[in-house]
Amino acid sequence: MPRIAVLPGDGIGHEVLEQGLRVLGAVAPDLSFEHFDLGAERYLRDGTTMPADVMGRWREEFDAVYLGALGDPRVPSNVHARDILLGARFQLDLYINFRPVRLLDPRYCPLKDKRPEDVDFVVFRENTEGLYTGIGGQFKRDTEDEVAIEQEMNTRKGVERIVRAAFAWARQHGKTKVCMSDKANAMRHGHDLWQRVFKSVAAEYPEIKASHLYVDVLTMQMVLAPEQFEVIVTNNLFGDIVTDLGAAIQGGIGLAASGNLNPGKAALFEPVHGSAPDIAGKGIANPLAAVLTAGMMLGYLGRPADEKRIQDAVAACLREGNVTRELGGTRMTAEVGSAVLDALR
Ligand code: NAD
Ligand code: IPM
Ligand code: MN
Repeated sequence: MPRIAVLPGDGIGHEVLEQGLRVLGAVAPDLSFEHFDLGAERYLRDGTTMPADVMGRWREEFDAVYLGALGDPRVPSNVHARDILLGARFQLDLYINFRPVRLLDPRYCPLKDKRPEDVDFVVFRENTEGLYTGIGGQFKRDTEDEVAIEQEMNTRKGVERIVRAAFAWARQHGKTKVCMSDKANAMRHGHDLWQRVFKSVAAEYPEIKASHLYVDVLTMQMVLAPEQFEVIVTNNLFGDIVTDLGAAIQGGIGLAASGNLNPGKAALFEPVHGSAPDIAGKGIANPLAAVLTAGMMLGYLGRPADEKRIQDAVAACLREGNVTRELGGTRMTAEVGSAVLDALR
């Protein structure tokens, strides 16, 4: 019986996870859940961001964490999100941020004349280093001479394991292309390492065409000709940025799912979007990213047929226009959840 840690977090995290949990209840009634009261509310109440024992419990006692979103305007430092979300990525060593970009229904694509088969790739975002480690510092803070340094950490092991994960996934899924994206023309040290590691890992996969694009060109190509991509591998920050762009071309940020993975270890699943304070509490957030994320979690737990069922149910909602207002619909969050449940039956 798989055990899932549930962390709704902040803002629309609560609203969308509620619908994701309804869907999980219908598709996988044998899962067991434990809810964790962490996020901005808790932090403001008692100063707790991440209790000392929780990360160890997730690692030892759970198969997966299902997370909504973290971020609240009342906590401008974002300290709780860093401790919880980045904390989990780093401490559970979830080095793969797996972010599929799949257009389920062409009507919601902002690009002209694109079919579902034209927007169908996966981004492997490095998730444990890069510009996210917090290494750096401030000097002469709040003076005219202030200096702020943010250092980008790239280790050979870290780069190699994410690049290898991308190629291995491509081979396993019958894909023929992997594109690595960096900014080696400007960033001479870290991204030169990416170039060398990419070439050497690519040599182990002769049947897969390895290509490279600088990240500025990648963003352009994702809009102009997304059909050229099957697998993209990139660093932590670039992966963050290009997957919001990916979300837009697959139909919107309300449809993008992600998994933070390290095969064999407890994983963390979350929609790509954030806590959306601008619409939180109104019951209008799109829950489909959270629903697709729940499906991805089931796939990871060894239940690909259930993942497919959920994807098909979401596709049915999109087809029938059972969508929230940012997609041009009139449905409320909970109504979209109910439409997914109807489609499952
Ligand atoms: P956001 O993704 O929360 O929102 C960006 C825009 O997209 C907003 O206009 C919002 O209304 C809309 N949107 C997002 N999700 C939606 C949904 N499901 N349905 C309909 N519309 C949706 O990004 P932001 O505004 O930059 O961030 C808000 C907070 O969330 C910040 O504190 C940020 O750090 C945090 N954040 C957290 C995560 C996470 O926990 N994984 C991810 C991204 C941002
Ligand atoms: C994401 C988010 C996070 C990130 C933030 C909340 C730190 O944008 O998961 O995409 O940048 O990784
Ligand atoms: Mn992001």
